[in-house]
Amino acid sequence: MFDPKKVRKDFTVLTKEIDGSIPIYFDNACMTLKPKTVVDAITEYYNSYPGCGGRSAHKFALQVTMGYDETREKLMQFLNASRSEEMIFTRNATEAINLVSNSIPWIGKGDLILTTDKEHNSNLVPWHLLAKRRGTRHQVVPSNPDNTFNIENFKEAMSGKPKLVSMVHTSNLDGVTNPAQDIVEIAHDHGALVLLDGAQSAPHQAVDVQKLDVDFFALSIHKMMGPTGMGALYGKYEYLEKMDPCLGGGDTVQQTSYTESNFLPPPERYEAGLQNYAGVIGTGAAIDYLLSTGLDNIHDHERLLNSFVSKGLKNLGAEIMGPEDPSLRSGIVSFNLAGIDPHDISMFVDDAANTMIRSGMHCVHSWFTARNLKGSARASFYLYNTIDEAKIFLEAVGKLKEMMS
Ligand code: ALA
Repeated sequence: MFDPKKVRKDFTVLTKEIDGSIPIYFDNACMTLKPKTVVDAITEYYNSYPGCGGRSAHKFALQVTMGYDETREKLMQFLNASRSEEMIFTRNATEAINLVSNSIPWIGKGDLILTTDKEHNSNLVPWHLLAKRRGTRHQVVPSNPDNTFNIENFKEAMSGKPKLVSMVHTSNLDGVTNPAQDIVEIAHDHGALVLLDGAQSAPHQAVDVQKLDVDFFALSIHKMMGPTGMGALYGKYEYLEKMDPCLGGGDTVQQTSYTESNFLPPPERYEAGLQNYAGVIGTGAAIDYLLSTGLDNIHDHERLLNSFVSKGLKNLGAEIMGPEDPSLRSGIVSFNLAGIDPHDISMFVDDAANTMIRSGMHCVHSWFTARNLKGSARASFYLYNTIDEAKIFLEAVGKLKEMMS
């Protein structure tokens, strides 16, 4: 039976008092904490076999290559990809999306790319850049007033015959999960490929890329208990093998002459230069941890916390972004308190209750600026958070409200 209190023992940072108490970490949509097994795997790499993979034939190198390949297999299983060559290591989800935008040769002048109106900059800026470079077009599909996905708006936008639909799976703004299966089906019926930004979905719910039939899926490992500087891209092999790598260098090529490069098949052709081996090995440990905990347990626990916090915030008069029903907002609650700057909320709960949340525009500037809003305060939960922590947080928000009224 899943018990967050037991899980907490696996995270060293949650066993150490800071400023007189154990800190409460509610900024998991930005970065999650790392279990000891992940930190140990990284340390073991540096202490015991700190070589590079895929090149030399000595002991260290072989062990690194084995760890590297094993993690790719684990990632394949994690997303249920059909082969490990469909998984490419990147630095984060941002780089994974940029890899697609820079490497797809068949999207060019005049071609349309569709996104939602709630994209993180990581799934917006690459399309702005592509428009500049290649003259592609970009269109935004407006969400419903409660920030849920509007399928009719999407179908209407499909009449513009986009080449690519690149959308957020679960929003970092409000936790809403878009209906990926329907999006993919409709897009494919219209001949468009689909890229999902899974940075906020993969850490919190089971994702099956084959069932979704999605063409590309980007994720950030640092948001799923893995090391910083690690992400991944899933891509259907049939597309990956037709794309041109955007970074050239060591380990991407089979052979070179002074005038030509002969690229290796995927995934190597997309992983140029010496890689983040410690990061990849730590990623393997993070996936083990996630799978042994169970994505369903994590998902259910976050919903419980969100429901508790949402109710408490509503009682305090907070305006919560997104749909009323907390079960539609995953482990994220974004809110505002009338007349109080979101940064002041964040700083107050940090000082008064040792609670870390995020405030501002959460890298979704486009959504806030279009509505003339300054931002929001955002609490985001993970498996190690507890109802007791939620009570402390709500008490602090209540205190702030009282002080300001
Ligand atoms: N995408 C990260 C967040 O929402 C950075 O905090």
